[in-house]
Order: sequence, then structure tokens, then C-alpha cells
Amino acid sequence: MKECQPGHRVPNTFGLPATADRYIEIHDVDELHDILNSQFSILNSQLLIVGAGSNMVFTRHFPGTVLHMANRGIRLVKEHGDDLLVEAAAGEVWDDFVRHCIAQGWHGAENLVAIPGTVGAAPVQNVGAYGIEAKDIIHEVHTVELATGHEHTFSNAECHFGYRDSIFKHEAAGQFIVTSVVFRLSRTFAPNLGYRAIAEALTAAGLPSPTPVQLADTIAALRWSKLPRPEETGSAGSFFKNPVVTTEQYETLRAQHPDIVAFPVADGYKLAAGWLIEHAGWKGRSLGRAGVYEKQALVLVNRGGCSGDEVVALSDAIIADVRAKYGVTLTPEAIII
Ligand code: EPU
Repeated sequence: MKECQPGHRVPNTFGLPATADRYIEIHDVDELHDILNSQFSILNSQLLIVGAGSNMVFTRHFPGTVLHMANRGIRLVKEHGDDLLVEAAAGEVWDDFVRHCIAQGWHGAENLVAIPGTVGAAPVQNVGAYGIEAKDIIHEVHTVELATGHEHTFSNAECHFGYRDSIFKHEAAGQFIVTSVVFRLSRTFAPNLGYRAIAEALTAAGLPSPTPVQLADTIAALRWSKLPRPEETGSAGSFFKNPVVTTEQYETLRAQHPDIVAFPVADGYKLAAGWLIEHAGWKGRSLGRAGVYEKQALVLVNRGGCSGDEVVALSDAIIADVRAKYGVTLTPEAIII
């Protein structure tokens, strides 16, 4: 365990000046049990569990304890024919995990390459990109209940996964810390090329039948052509969720805006929030030191020295304007602290 001095910066990819009363880094599950057994005071304070802070906007000093799982390890736990179960520790960097699987010939995670964050945060947020979501490859999630110290495993179904959503953002929020995630992968490479932009990028690169590495490299390049690199520009990736509207609402919008971008889903249409924000005139604009990224309007960025309040002010202004122009209410995907 490593406890940092008060005032230690809480990691966050937005590059916001975040601090907490206490910041504790935990290196293995035994250490977590020791802390929960010996330092009851932690449980009396407000708790916040942070991975890489890639989906968080800090607007204030956090008056409590931040816990960060920094455990490591990736191992094949079961093999049956082509089917594999692979366990990765919560503290592993997500992209290192994806690349490690590719190198081992364990397939299924390729489309989720280059997503910032840690393995432990992936089920909380149900990260997704390029046609798949973490829920499609998660078998189960191992956790420790903070109040009791009991280990608890959530099956895929028990995680109540939704679009950028899970039980860990609702009933179980703040009560369980993810210690590792078990993924269902395969020895067989069956590439998922359904997302139009992937098919186009592979055709342009002359790679109709990519190897796993070629697929991952093509997707990573596509990602970085639209999203800012965390080491260069602070952001939380997509700031808003793509909103779902009824078929009726979509037809009305399409009649007024024939080029609106939307995808049919079970309960209506999912609108491209990036399109709405861009066409409301926000792409590339700034409010204070917070801005809307020039290449992807769904991404809010830190123009340098930005505060969390400035990000929220920009977000509120965009939400109000998109609501006024399109009658659609955007919801932040990022968690505002
Ligand atoms: N679009 C615009 N203007 C923009 C941005 C997008 O018109 O400024 C329209 C374009 O028509 C584009 C469409 O929106 O074709 C979709 O854009 P993109 O492929 O970039 O995907 P997205 O819906 O904006 C989602 C995820 C991303 C994920 C990509 C790729 C959400 C909230 N975001 O973005 O996830 O990487 O798809 O699968 O669902 C994240 O969650 O942090 C994230 C980056």
C-alpha cells in the first residue's frame, strides 16, 4: 500500500487539478483486505474508486479517501477447445491488456484497442468502441465489498450492463472495488468488421483480411485520427452519450434535418451526439479554458489550465443549446465529481 500526502494529485486524463483528503494505492488483494481490516476510518469517510481517471471531471477537492487498485497480472485460467477464460488484474492498463492478448493469440478484444483507462474501470463504464463493448467479452467481475471485506463475484448478467452503464454506477456504486476481470476470449480470430469506419479504413489500407495486429493497428490509427492523445491534450474521451430517441422523434428530426446521423436500436434510434453538437455550431469553440475538440465534437478538451467548473459550464451550455435547437437532451458520459 502507498498512501500519498494530502494534496497529492488524483490522476485524471482531463488534467484537472484534483486532490483528495487521502489517496491510497493498493498493490494486491491481500493488501486491500489488510487496509479494510485495520483502517476502519476509511469506511467512515467518503470513498471514491479511481482507475486512471479517464472518465472523470473533478470540480472540487474530494473530501474523503480515493482508492486506486494498482495490482497487476494477466493469466489464462481455463481453456476448453478454442474457448479461453483470461483473468486480468484491475490495475492493468487496458490497452496493455488488449495488446498482450493479441500477442498470446487470445482473440476477441482487438476492437477495444487504445481505449485509455484500466481493466478495473472497463466493467464499471462498459467501455465500447468500433462495434463491441466490454460486456461482449466479460465473463465475470471479481470484487471486494468495502463494508464487509467479503469477496464477491458478479456474473456478466449480474453486472446489468447497458450502454456505458453497469450496476457499478447504480445499486453497487461505491460499495465494491473491482479486483480483477475474467474475459471470455478465443483461440480463433474471427474479426468483427461490422463498423463501417473499420471496413473503410481496411479497404483504404489494402487489408481486406487483416491479421489481428493489422486490425488493432488500423483501429488505433482511426481512433487517434479523431480523439486527442491524453499525453498531449486533456479530455475524458467522449464527454456525452449518444442519445436514444423514439422512432417518432427521429422521423420528425429527419424531416427537418435530412442529413442527421442516427443508427436504429431496439427502442428507437441512437443519434450521433457529435453531429448534433457540430451542427449546433460548437465544434472547435471554447468557453473559458474548456473547448470542443476540432476533430470530434463529442469530446471536450482542456485548452490548458482548465478547471472542472469550466468543463461543466461548457457542458451545460452545449446541453442547453442542443435542447433548444433539436429538442434532445444530452447526458454526460463522464462522471462529474
Ligand atoms: N459526427 C459528426 N461530427 C462530429 C463527430 C461525429 O457529425 O464532430 C458523426 C459522424 O457522422 C460520424 C458519427 O457521428 O460518422 C459517429 O462518430 P464516431 O464514429 O466518431 O463515433 P461516436 O458515436 O461519436 C462512439 C463512442 C466512442 C467510440 C466511437 C467509435 C460514445 C459516447 N462514444 O463515438 O467512445 O470510440 O463511437 O466506436 O458512444 C468514449 O466513450 O469515450 C469513446 C471515445
